[in-house]
Amino acid sequence: MTLWPRSSVAKKFLNAVTGIGLLLFVIVHLSENLLLLTGNPDDYNRWTHFLFSFGPLLTVIELGLAAFFLVHIGSALMVYWDKLKARPSGYSVYRSAGWTSRQTLSSQTMIYTGLVLLAFVIWHVITFRFGPHYETVIDGVPMRDLHKLVVEVFSNPVNVALYVAVMVFLGLHLRHGFWSALQSLGAYHPRWTPLWYTGGVLVALVLALGFIVIPVWVYYYL
Ligand code: HEM
Repeated sequence: MTLWPRSSVAKKFLNAVTGIGLLLFVIVHLSENLLLLTGNPDDYNRWTHFLFSFGPLLTVIELGLAAFFLVHIGSALMVYWDKLKARPSGYSVYRSAGWTSRQTLSSQTMIYTGLVLLAFVIWHVITFRFGPHYETVIDGVPMRDLHKLVVEVFSNPVNVALYVAVMVFLGLHLRHGFWSALQSLGAYHPRWTPLWYTGGVLVALVLALGFIVIPVWVYYYL
């Protein structure tokens, strides 16, 4: 008896559903972090304070998010493991079989870009969620000064460089992940599949560039 489904279709389905959920989180997260660029630190702190005001509900959402991460990583590792077992010798040279195969740098490196993102998220959450609690007061209301922490972290060029590098990995991961998730959810259609594929490229570019702008902007202008 195992907690995980045996069939590879079910594992891919779980991976796809959690991947789309995480993509939605990343889109929302980028939108809220763009508040760092308004020029008024209060905008960002007011928003994060509003989120913290959800108290136990926020904790439930965070636990749900953590569960999505765990199921996404677990199912990805199992699909990868199944593939290794089915093809123990491996191929020494990967060559794209053309438009229908979609073998690209990003599809071949999903497991590696995924592991980099896992290490990043652990470091990132320790830095910000569990980092120093600076305090500020806005309109008489005391709250956490997360803006100050973000500026402090991105005043270090090593952190900025690491963030920029990881966002390139995020883009590579999303480029293939978006398209692949839709395929796993049964969205394959000769006419629409090229559209999903292009959609994946656009989603990857917008999110990676959006997240790159933030640390670079903070480093140079805040
Ligand atoms: C420049 C880019 C980013 C900035 C400035 C940023 C900022 C932050 C901050 C300030 C927090 C703490 C908020 C809180 O305590 O509720 C946070 C939490 C988090 N971030 Fe980011 N983030 C960035 C990029 C990313 C990326 C690319 C990912 C995922 C791939 C990510 C995943 C998370 C997660 C999972 C949390 C924990 C959420 C929670 O506990 O509510 N972040 N981020």
